[in-house]
Amino acid sequence: MPTDRKKAHLDLALKSHAGFEFADQRFNYEPLMSAHPVAGTSLARPFMGRELQLPVWVSSMTGGTPLAGEINRNLAMVCREFGMGMGLGSCRSILEDDTWLKHFALRSVIGPDLPLYANLGINQIEVMISQNKWNLISGLVSKLEADGLMVHVNPFQEFFQPEGDRLKYAPIDSIRKLIDRFPDMKIVVKEVGQGMGPHSLRALLELPLEAIEFGAYGGTNFSKLESLRQSGERIKALLPLAATGHTASDMLEAINDISKTSCVATRHLIISGGIKDFLDGYYLIGKSVLPAVYGQASAFLIHAQAGIDQLRQFVAAQAEGLRMAYAYLQIK
Ligand SMILES: Cc1cc2nc3c(=O)[nH]c(=O)nc-3n(C[C@H](O)[C@H](O)[C@H](O)COP(=O)(O)O)c2cc1C
Repeated sequence: MPTDRKKAHLDLALKSHAGFEFADQRFNYEPLMSAHPVAGTSLARPFMGRELQLPVWVSSMTGGTPLAGEINRNLAMVCREFGMGMGLGSCRSILEDDTWLKHFALRSVIGPDLPLYANLGINQIEVMISQNKWNLISGLVSKLEADGLMVHVNPFQEFFQPEGDRLKYAPIDSIRKLIDRFPDMKIVVKEVGQGMGPHSLRALLELPLEAIEFGAYGGTNFSKLESLRQSGERIKALLPLAATGHTASDMLEAINDISKTSCVATRHLIISGGIKDFLDGYYLIGKSVLPAVYGQASAFLIHAQAGIDQLRQFVAAQAEGLRMAYAYLQIK
């Protein structure tokens, strides 16, 4: 009712003073330059050899438990409905045994047209190389009907786990071997929440990767998570390591700088790790020299756990927010 709305406006007006300190300084707000976007306003773009309807990526999360299977299906379903890409969680458990395959076999759910990537840790890649089990890597990608393989590089996370794997070689060497062996496979390299510094980024950008996914510092932090899982002097002493890393803006700035002066062979970026909302994503994509989308893990997980309806509402609101941003906000 208009009268109720007017009364609510009077009651709430004094409580809603923005205060200068809260104005988001990243954008120019241009209210005169666009009509309201309608639901069908296209944000479509080509990305990683496919066509996305939203510049959004569902970042890798684990499978292999009954709950994870349902979460993965919900995530793949909204990817299909909204036209987003998806990275699977670590597929280590189905490398040699198909017990949990159904939790990861999401091609029929996401459909034939959107990017879907298998995922392995750098430690498994190292082991597969040393045991000459290349066929397990290519077999994984083909049994999942995936577009390619994401390799997560997580030396801190593994080190924080007393039972974690230990690397014998520098990850960059194993990644180079992987590319040499599979020159036609689409390969993405990512961190899992601490990002990467300029030397690692430069080394990756020289390689013909399909994408780098940031997994930047500022959101889910697996080293910190491991410290919550454990007690004892070792973990207490190691904890300062968990507070190191690179945010998504730091990483993007480094990549943009490197691209100005060096030849870059990597084709795309998935900007993830600590992306709070669509505005962070919109801003960082807009600043990127390379074609980019933004990715989130924990934000999707929270809604996916609550069921498909809540997940749909979350993604629909992100899409609306993005359309408004493209219509009215110019990146400074
Ligand atoms: C529950 C959970 C499980 C994850 N499992 C994996 C994994 O198996 N492989 C991987 O590459 N990254 C994994 N990640 C890391 C995410 O892909 C992402 O890089 C990181 O969480 C930062 O994103 P966020 O800040 O939006 O959560 C996981 C994240 C979460 C929250």
